[in-house]
Amino acid sequence: MNYQWYPGHMTKARRMMQENLSLIDLVIELVDARIPLSSRNPDIDTMGKNKARLILLNKSDLADADLNQEWMEYFREMDIHAVEVNSKSGAGVRSIEAVVRVACKDKLERDRRRGILNRPVRAMVAGIPNVGKSTFINAFAGRACAKTGNKPGVTKGKQWIRLHKSLELLDTPGILWPKFEDQQAGLRLALIGSMNDEILQTEELALELIRFLRAAYGGVLSGRFGVEENGDDFSVLKEISIKRGCLLKGNEPDIRKASSILLEEFRSGKLGRITLERPEQGAKG
Ligand code: G4P
Repeated sequence: MNYQWYPGHMTKARRMMQENLSLIDLVIELVDARIPLSSRNPDIDTMGKNKARLILLNKSDLADADLNQEWMEYFREMDIHAVEVNSKSGAGVRSIEAVVRVACKDKLERDRRRGILNRPVRAMVAGIPNVGKSTFINAFAGRACAKTGNKPGVTKGKQWIRLHKSLELLDTPGILWPKFEDQQAGLRLALIGSMNDEILQTEELALELIRFLRAAYGGVLSGRFGVEENGDDFSVLKEISIKRGCLLKGNEPDIRKASSILLEEFRSGKLGRITLERPEQGAKG
């Protein structure tokens, strides 16, 4: 899950993307609904500029339902077709076909004018690591035909998954690199667990999460851990250690362990549905 991006990996990933882009009509870009902007790749707009585009707000089950709506509206206003999905359960996946037809209407119209009938739309899935590309491909195809956990730069033969007569999906997703240079994006990517935790130490990350939750989702920490939320961030973390019995020798709170527990529970949705970014300000809290 932790990806080290070296210039060589990026060049390879970009080359593969470009090679695959030449074969397709539509880019299905997956973003994480908890951080729809920070999980987008900065170069996708230039790379996919002559292609029809569709954004999937994936992992929508982990994100705030109201903010999912706001993000859908945000993309709609930008004239980008977007669909909310949960690739793990398959929710929302069926509604994509109709949106694909709308997103590709220019191509379908062009084909019709040239007398080409029934040529399927060819699509590829793209996104940064861990956003759910393989899970989505599996869910869309309705069978286990794409392995999860792809690594950058692994070349495979091109295979098309024929979904029905009008849509084919490349079985290999395009792997895009995250926004390294943007510190806020890096922090949010680390919080959802899709970037190497080295960016910040576990404890620093946990403190960032506590700060955010207290400001934007008051009551979540007290509800889950039974802690007071009105002290400073560190005292909240200390209290979480005690409540969860994370103690070192001499009954000192084990801050590191408590930090890991907090992050894991946030990432897996045990703290509830939480979105770290909102459209009007780019960030909550
Ligand atoms: P990638 O190809 O983009 O790298 O991502 P991949 O499909 O491997 O998915 C990364 C993780 O995200 C997987 O969890 C996967 O189950 C989870 N996931 C994908 N889509 C969704 C979604 O819509 N909702 C939720 N809640 N989770 C999703 P994992 O921890 O690596 O594996 P596992 O827990 O499924 O075994």
